Amino acid sequence: MGRMKRKKHLIKTPTKAPLSGTRMERKADPDYKQFWQDEHCNSNSRCMSTTNPNNVFRWFGMPHPTSNQIVLDIGVGTGEFATHCNDWGITVDCLDIAPAALSKVEQVARHGYLSAESLPANEYDVAIAMFVTQHVADNNLIHLITQVRRSLKRGGKLYIQFPTLQTMEPSIVENEGKPLEICRPPKEALSMLENRGLQAKEVGQRLTFPHVFLYFMEGTKP
Ligand SMILES: C[S@@+](CC[C@H](N)C(=O)[O-])C[C@H]1O[C@@H](n2cnc3c(N)ncnc32)[C@H](O)[C@@H]1O
Repeated sequence: MGRMKRKKHLIKTPTKAPLSGTRMERKADPDYKQFWQDEHCNSNSRCMSTTNPNNVFRWFGMPHPTSNQIVLDIGVGTGEFATHCNDWGITVDCLDIAPAALSKVEQVARHGYLSAESLPANEYDVAIAMFVTQHVADNNLIHLITQVRRSLKRGGKLYIQFPTLQTMEPSIVENEGKPLEICRPPKEALSMLENRGLQAKEVGQRLTFPHVFLYFMEGTKP
C-alpha cells in the first residue's frame, strides 16, 4: 500500500473558546491585504475558489437576478460571478480588498470598491459573499456586514456563505502554520447578521471535505 498523503490542513478546535475570544478572533493581520494581492497576482494561487455561478444560485436557492436589479459581488476572486451578471445584462459592482482582483473585473463591473465604507447607501438589490467570511476576522466581518447592510436597498438581500466543522465547534483551519479558514457555527453567523439589523435565515447546506460543511445564509434588510 502506498503512503498516505500528508494532510494539508491542520484544524485547531478550541474546546471552550467563545467566538469573540482571542483564539477565534483573528486580529487584523498587517499582511492580510498583501496576501490576497499576491494570491491574485500569482497564477498558482492556492486560495481562489473560482465558484461556478450556477452553483451559487443552487446552493443559496436564490432567484436569478433580473436586469433591473443591481448586484454587489463581495470578494470577487477571479470574477466568475461578476462576469456572469454582466453577461446577463445585470449591473454589478465589485468589492475586494485586493486591487489586482478589481483590475480583473474592470470590463464587467460598473464600479470596483476596495473598502466597504466607500459603498453607496441604499443601492443594491442583491449582495453576495461566497467563500469570503472564512478569511475575515470577527471584527472586520462585523464591520463588513454593517457596511453591506447600509448599501442594500430596503428589502435587499445579502447571500452569505459560512463554513463550519461538523462538530459545530468554532475553529480555525490552518494551512502551513497560517490561519486560513475561520469556521463559525450557524448560530454565531445568524446572530452576526441579526445584530447588524438583518432578518436572517439559513437557506442551504453542503458537505465539503471530511470535517467542514458549508452553509448558506440569507439576510434581508427590513
Ligand atoms: C476565496 S476567494 C472567493 C472568490 C469568489 N467569491 C468565489 O467564490 O470564487 C476570496 C476573495 O475575497 C477577497 N477578500 C478577502 N478578504 C476580503 C474582505 N475583507 N473584503 C472584501 N474582499 C475580501 C479576496 O481578495 C478574494 O478575492
